[in-house]
Amino acid sequence: MKFESIFLALFMIGAGFGASAQQHSEQDHSNYKAPSDPLVQAKLEKWQDAKFGLMMHWGTYSQWGIVESWSLCPEDEGWCERRGPHAHNWYEYKKAYEGIADSFNPVNFDPEKWASAAKNAGMKYLVFTTKHHDGFSMFDSKYTDYKITNTPFGKNPKSNVTKEILSAFRKEGFMTGTYFSKPDWNTDSYWWPYFPPKDRNVSYDPKKYPEKWQEFKEFTNNQIQELMTDYGSVDILWLDGGWVRPFSSIDPNISWQKSIPYDQDIDMARIAKEARKKQPGLLVVDRTVSGEFENYVTPEQQVPDHYLPIPWESCMTMGNSWSYVPNDQFKSTHQLIHTLLEIVSKGGNLLLNIGPGPDGTWPQAAYDRLNEIGEWMNINSVGIYETKPLAPYRQGKWAFTHKGQRTYAFYLAEKGEKLPKLLKIDGLTINSEQKISIAGQNTTLKYKQGNIQIPEKVSQTAGLQPAYLFIIE
Ligand code: GLC
Repeated sequence: MKFESIFLALFMIGAGFGASAQQHSEQDHSNYKAPSDPLVQAKLEKWQDAKFGLMMHWGTYSQWGIVESWSLCPEDEGWCERRGPHAHNWYEYKKAYEGIADSFNPVNFDPEKWASAAKNAGMKYLVFTTKHHDGFSMFDSKYTDYKITNTPFGKNPKSNVTKEILSAFRKEGFMTGTYFSKPDWNTDSYWWPYFPPKDRNVSYDPKKYPEKWQEFKEFTNNQIQELMTDYGSVDILWLDGGWVRPFSSIDPNISWQKSIPYDQDIDMARIAKEARKKQPGLLVVDRTVSGEFENYVTPEQQVPDHYLPIPWESCMTMGNSWSYVPNDQFKSTHQLIHTLLEIVSKGGNLLLNIGPGPDGTWPQAAYDRLNEIGEWMNINSVGIYETKPLAPYRQGKWAFTHKGQRTYAFYLAEKGEKLPKLLKIDGLTINSEQKISIAGQNTTLKYKQGNIQIPEKVSQTAGLQPAYLFIIE
């Protein structure tokens, strides 16, 4: 089948998250360009084997407990809504928002605790917001004063939090990634104060003011190269803010891209080349800008409804919000495990987000979920890591993967559903020579007339799980 027809038919299932500022669902993946550099290819394979990562959105916005950055954006969208005493006046609001830095002090910051909880849950890689659209650098950049080391936390020996976080996770064996927003709503060369910003975009026409834009390009490249130089080994450069892109890359079929007013070519070729000099094999993820610098695609808050034959990752929130908001509602462990299986069986990775609070801790619910996921992974992760998808991928209550000749068939149970006595595997033929067992137990299960026979004892030992893994070899 032609790639186009697969991809154009692609339809994503929404996860019901209202405040998405960009629609990453509509992207036409036929433009995917596999990397030619063997080091990048190797890293991409390693990353695809990892399957499960942690994302963290953390910044001064966490102190107000609001949506990350977006309330600064003068667009009439729900997620940009300003609240509180300064809401009536954008200039006043921006000043107050940026003023949060004067009191930001996450004294309970303990990245080792995060890394160990994430590791126990079976996560293998990390993507951390080093700088979001608001421009606040969560690292000690020498190119801005709007940064973590200029807050009251600056006196703390762990104040360069990006460095601390990356190194704590690396010590636990994680691949590390830096989320970096290309747009920067703090720096004068993006939102040049001569023209007030009208929306998320650059506030002037870069074609008319090429020196200004050059200044911004240098600034952006400088900051990215700082991250690639002073923060140990980095595996992924995850670039957000897809409206910063060359005009020529705009897909007119995608509504949010159609409204980009200016060419915002940031020179990805240079950024990637310089970055890879320092970080050989670096994965570059210039989100939604299909082509050479988007080594994998990143549907947001959703899962494709088909298997995708290109490298991809769904980023998703564990609660409803990317950033910490008080009393966020966390998804159940049951749902999170099903989502992981949904994704892995279709050939993708899950990047699951937790938003640390202003004091530098995660909500208890995040630890609880990770703990429960870890208990399940201890038994069942053999069917996840380093596996490949297997047709029919996902059918009925089943999700499939394989490693060599071994088939992994996950039965996605209802909440509270124990294993029945007889179970039919949808969409898979098993021959009489094959041996079937359930993960964590040695008993070979009988297979008759299309049904797996499950003795009471096996069912009891399996207990209640969100999904049960059958190994067929
Ligand atoms: C959405 C949000 C953005 C967030 C991103 C993470 O685009 O608007 O703030 O960083 O998702 O994927």
